Amino acid sequence: MARNVQVLLANRPDGWVKESDFNIVERDIPSPGPGEILIENSWLSLDPYMRGRMNASKSYAAAVEIGDVMVGGTVGKVIASQHPKFREGDHVVGSTGWQLYAVSSGEGLSKIDPDAVAPSAYLGVCGMPGATAWIGLLEHCAPQAGETVLVSAATGAVGSVVGQLARLQGCRAVGIAGGKKKCDYALKELGFDACVDYKAGNVFDNLKAACPQGVDCLFENVGGQLMDNAFRLLNPFSRVALCGMVAEYNATEPYGVTMMRSLLVNRVNLRGFIVFDRLDLYQKAIGRLVRLVSQGKLRYHETVAEGLASAPRAFIGMLKGENLGKQVVKLK
Ligand SMILES: NC(=O)c1ccc[n+]([C@@H]2O[C@H](COP(=O)([O-])OP(=O)(O)OC[C@H]3O[C@@H](n4cnc5c(N)ncnc54)[C@H](OP(=O)(O)O)[C@@H]3O)[C@@H](O)[C@H]2O)c1
Repeated sequence: MARNVQVLLANRPDGWVKESDFNIVERDIPSPGPGEILIENSWLSLDPYMRGRMNASKSYAAAVEIGDVMVGGTVGKVIASQHPKFREGDHVVGSTGWQLYAVSSGEGLSKIDPDAVAPSAYLGVCGMPGATAWIGLLEHCAPQAGETVLVSAATGAVGSVVGQLARLQGCRAVGIAGGKKKCDYALKELGFDACVDYKAGNVFDNLKAACPQGVDCLFENVGGQLMDNAFRLLNPFSRVALCGMVAEYNATEPYGVTMMRSLLVNRVNLRGFIVFDRLDLYQKAIGRLVRLVSQGKLRYHETVAEGLASAPRAFIGMLKGENLGKQVVKLK
């Protein structure tokens, strides 16, 4: 008989997350009660924010408790329903965690059309990361044609969409990524105008050469020294969408930013944002992204880990930059 498999948080990591910080258990498959549905998950998303949820410290969302199922976005199929809005056979995306089966009240769950784009795309380019790119770039940076948009972690789930949307806006899209393979992908497949491999050294000089007119919009995914280098290139009245600081998520000490003066003298508008602050735009953004992907105007790549047991290792790999594009786990 089929059983549920779950990945639980076993320890709060101090510094780099380890596979032993997770515990994989087998449980009975739960039954939905009145007003609930049972979902069989087929895809799990692995995202940098999950590292923050493993800490006890206060963030914008509650921590995962020790012994609880790890939080995570999933795509799956409704296999039993006592909910008026969901039927058996519906395909759904939501946050049901690192597990094969989940009971849900339907809150935060959306139906998806698996024929419009591949179901896993609803976790990446047509999901939360894609909406993050959309909202951060088009709402917070609002770049005009001809402006230069610089994005870090440029070949990842968010960054790859930012660069392509910037190009569609008529901007010069410049990426920062780790390694030649990633930069080649950004240039040849995603259509970036330039890409700086930060692992090759000379980061500031190479960024300056890639952005001869300076930077009008910085979409910041990484933080740390890369962000300091990008701050030095900001133009007067430029905008920074502060989306993430993945370079610091496993650090024991925060990085001390040195280039704040550039924000002052250039009268920069820097805005930290969380995608779910703009639920008013979320579904609209997803609809547009689905259309762009199905029209072939937006490309994406997935790094696929096989089976739920591979999730801890793949998660650590993603935080170390082993993924190209969106990191997902195929569950069945
Ligand atoms: N604000 C929001 O609402 C929101 C929503 C979603 C995501 N985010 C943030 O957006 C960022 C990107 O998320 P994602 O899902 O698209 O992840 P991702 O880019 O697909 O994967 C993470 C990437 O981060 C890069 N990275 C890791 N450590 C680094 C370091 N020390 N220096 C430079 N790059 C490093 C690696 O790429 P390289 O190999 O190129 O180094 C790695 O592939 C994260 O900071 C995440 O927290 C924010």
